[in-house]
Amino acid sequence: MIRALALVIAAMGTAGATGPAPTDFTLNTNCPPGFEKTGGVCELRTLYQFYDSLENRGLGGTRTSLPPHRDGFTPNQIDLGRYLFFDPVMSGDRTLSCASCHDPARGLSDGRPRSIGIHGEDAGRAAPTLWNVAFLKRFFWDARADSLEAQASGPLYSPKEMGNTPDQLLKSLNDNATYRRLFKEAFPQQRGPIAEQQVFTALTAFQTSLVSLNSRYDRYVHGYDAALSQREIEGLNVFRSFVARCSECHTPPLFTNEQIAVIGMPEPAGQPFDVGAEAILNSPKLKGGFKVPTLRNIARTAPYSHSGAFADLRGAVDFYNKGRGNAVPKGMTLYLHWHISDPKLTEAEVDRIVDFLGALTDETFLPQTPARVPSGLPPTKRGE
Ligand code: HEC
Ligand code: HEC
Repeated sequence: MIRALALVIAAMGTAGATGPAPTDFTLNTNCPPGFEKTGGVCELRTLYQFYDSLENRGLGGTRTSLPPHRDGFTPNQIDLGRYLFFDPVMSGDRTLSCASCHDPARGLSDGRPRSIGIHGEDAGRAAPTLWNVAFLKRFFWDARADSLEAQASGPLYSPKEMGNTPDQLLKSLNDNATYRRLFKEAFPQQRGPIAEQQVFTALTAFQTSLVSLNSRYDRYVHGYDAALSQREIEGLNVFRSFVARCSECHTPPLFTNEQIAVIGMPEPAGQPFDVGAEAILNSPKLKGGFKVPTLRNIARTAPYSHSGAFADLRGAVDFYNKGRGNAVPKGMTLYLHWHISDPKLTEAEVDRIVDFLGALTDETFLPQTPARVPSGLPPTKRGE
């Protein structure tokens, strides 16, 4: 009797660990918060849509409108993208999901100076946050992709990141009855097996729902003066000043103008020099040039720069104050952007900028990490 019971318990244990993937998944039929369902698709609603003046653009004007953005996906597509984003089945060895490096608990980044791909590979650069990617037209630090759909093949098929192949990716999804059903629900018009384009569309749909425009800074902009402390307002004023010039590149409301700029942030000790956009656009003037990163949720995404050279925010801000070209490697010529000057900020002004950057935190629309994903693998975790 006791032995029989033990056998039953052992069998239950095995079923839990290796049994078939759960099949009771449903896709959300509502839009994520911040979106309104119109004609079956989700459209973004933000207060910035009421501002149409572009006159202050580039000068750090606060009530500027947003650039065009991607939306118009169905709730089903967004939610399917969420499952794919968190599912390690997307990587060659089933250990990494997108969320392993774009982790909701770490500002949609990974907290590492440079990301680590499958088999412990150094991915070479830091994982940027994915907040507000719906508004971007250029992706990666060197701006080498021009859409989220085009971007996705980068991590999926790079041997230094997820190490998958198109064939293996589509086979693992098509072999999974739950994914076959969910893709049919999300793409009802399309016939045949799951196609790569549908995977890219669903990932794009999910990523464009990652909107962060409701920080204390935004409330201040929309007229609630008490949203910022006196120190933060001082920091905002330094940030926007013609001395510091931060907002010329980190332009509100996205805190990026999406340009490539050569500013000469250093590599961490022992790391080779990264030529950045020079290699992509074949222009020596862009040696060491990188896309201006957003500063939204910046307090959540240490360490900083394309290679994680700065452990904390103060160090990254203080870089600008150490003298123009202070980090250009010896014997190398970099064409530093003309807005990189020597602002000679006081220690207190640097501190106030750091205070202000803390007011750009808003994670109210942080996506929910699914408790389970259709492959049955543990979501987000590194499998090793
Ligand atoms: C191994 C860690 C890792 C994984 C896994 C990963 N990424 Fe990334 N991601 C990065 C790194 C590093 C970069 C920057 C690479 C560069 O610029 O050269 C990046 C860049 C991006 C960007 C560009 C953001 C911008 O502002 O330019 C997007 C979008 C993105 N990843 C989405 C995804 C999606 C979707 C997946 C899953 C299919 C994914 N990532 C998986 C590390 C990772
Ligand atoms: C000429 C354009 C330009 C100006 C002006 C500028 N930045 Fe930047 N900023 C960049 C670029 C480009 C990067 C990425 C550089 C890299 O990673 O090598 C960056 C990176 C940063 C980062 C790290 C972001 C991250 O995600 O790792 C912070 C913080 C930052 N800047 C703050 C500031 C502040 C504060 C000022 C004003 C004192 C300022 N920036 C002025 C272009 C600019």
